[in-house]
Amino acid sequence: PEDLLFSYDGILYPAALSSPETLEALKSFETRSNDVILAGYPKTGTNWLEEMVREIESTDAKYTEEEMKERINAEKELQMFPRLEFGDPGVFEILLLLRNPKDTAVSYYHFYNNMPVLPSFATWDEYFAAFMSGKLAWGSYFDHLMEWNRYIDHERMMMISYEELKENPVLGMKKIAAFFGFSLSEEEFSRIAKKTSFQAMKEKSKETHGKFGDILFRKGVVGSWRDLFSEAQNEEMDQKFEECIGGTILAMKIKYDVYCK
Ligand code: A3P
Repeated sequence: PEDLLFSYDGILYPAALSSPETLEALKSFETRSNDVILAGYPKTGTNWLEEMVREIESTDAKYTEEEMKERINAEKELQMFPRLEFGDPGVFEILLLLRNPKDTAVSYYHFYNNMPVLPSFATWDEYFAAFMSGKLAWGSYFDHLMEWNRYIDHERMMMISYEELKENPVLGMKKIAAFFGFSLSEEEFSRIAKKTSFQAMKEKSKETHGKFGDILFRKGVVGSWRDLFSEAQNEEMDQKFEECIGGTILAMKIKYDVYCK
């Protein structure tokens, strides 16, 4: 039913996970100079990235346990807010997570239909149309990409992709650590890579995410889209992607031609 979602500033949100009051309050959310913001559209691997960053932060021992707790809470709230006004002088660094749009769409489809707090779609085709027009919780992935593309040259922003983290998690984490100013040893990086592997996180998911564990840690692979996309849908998304962000640095980072063709 429609009342599972509410609309705020033209974007849909699940009523069970957010509220107009929270979103309103976030407009005046005061960041501190050492805050870290993880920005990602749903299903781009946000839980994974969060876990990696948390491990990197706590291994470096730059923060006390108290400071760590505070930081993690703030990260969680901000994740809910897709369009945080960038340029707030308090915001220290923003890490933007990207995933190829076809796998993101498929991952979100399963999530949508399995999460009781979100409405269900009768068919993939129906869902696909909603994804393309952005009529889903947390809005359009294409709008999200276009919006963030405006800040691509910002010195306090870094991009990382799901696919590059899959391909070489240690290298990805090294880039993240360097950007945030953390220094870890080779052994520490490989320990974190093991601890945050899909298998390891899935096994622990009952503990960390309760009954939603199996929904959140579904497959964890690149290329799931091939199971569901029709030829016409492929073309439609190729075209939309080209129209919206074709030729941008952000599009290059997503490597659409490698992962979506
Ligand atoms: P799939 O549905 O394709 O499996 P989010 O955390 O933003 O909701 O993203 C969820 C997606 O990230 C799911 O994709 C999930 O399986 C995947 N994921 C979660 N943890 C992962 C990990 N440690 N390694 C790789 N993928 C992971």
